[in-house]
Amino acid sequence: MKGKFITFEGCEGCGKSTQVRLLSQKLDELGVDYIVTREPGGSDVAEQIRKIILDAKNTSMCDECEALLYAAARIQHLKEIVEPALEKGKLVICDRYVDSSLAYQGYARGLGEEYVEKINSAAMSSFCPDLTLFLNISPKDAFARKHGADEDDRMEQLGLEFHEKVYQGYLAVAKKYPRIAAIDCSGTKYQTAEKIITLLKDRGII
Ligand SMILES: Nc1ncnc2c1ncn2[C@@H]1O[C@H](COP(=O)(O)OP(=O)(O)O)[C@@H](O)[C@H]1O
Ligand SMILES: [Mg+2]
Repeated sequence: MKGKFITFEGCEGCGKSTQVRLLSQKLDELGVDYIVTREPGGSDVAEQIRKIILDAKNTSMCDECEALLYAAARIQHLKEIVEPALEKGKLVICDRYVDSSLAYQGYARGLGEEYVEKINSAAMSSFCPDLTLFLNISPKDAFARKHGADEDDRMEQLGLEFHEKVYQGYLAVAKKYPRIAAIDCSGTKYQTAEKIITLLKDRGII
């Protein structure tokens, strides 16, 4: 594929959306042809699936259903949004991707990496990111920054113990896949943004 694919990962409140916004501003300045998108969602059908996944009222959802819904939203979004943009040579920036499934469903829910990799085979192979930016901050520190969890969000409501498992999952996944760069984001959002720009330049992505 002609374009490059970059994903942002990390715990709730680590600063993904903030960094995607700051990076977009920089890319505008540089005149880079890019799109910003997000998971789960990013396309009509996938946004509808997102609502089901995140609805705090869906307390009976089993772990496998959750994992499969994420995978379903992902493949729809890949085919509808990501693939056409990459074919046009655009830089695609995605807020969350398959590593979220590995950390949340594989590790924290306990479904295992193998199960999650299998149901996300297209994301693991044909649509493997060129670079994944893992914003490395503990969930405790991240929640403190955003002043607590969102009460309407089923995933955010799972408590610190769950999110600590997610974080451990991310650390394990980051060790395993060389495409993942762990970014220390304990500094200001502008310091983190600088680190990201430097890395993208070093890797020849911008
Ligand atoms: N480096 C930072 N230092 C302090 N606060 C930050 C930093 N980065 C982000 N924030 C704040 O933390 C909160 C969560 O950031 P956000 O980008 O929404 O995280 P995410 O998208 O990963 O959940 C926001 O209120 C944001 O302004
Ligand atoms: Mg966000």
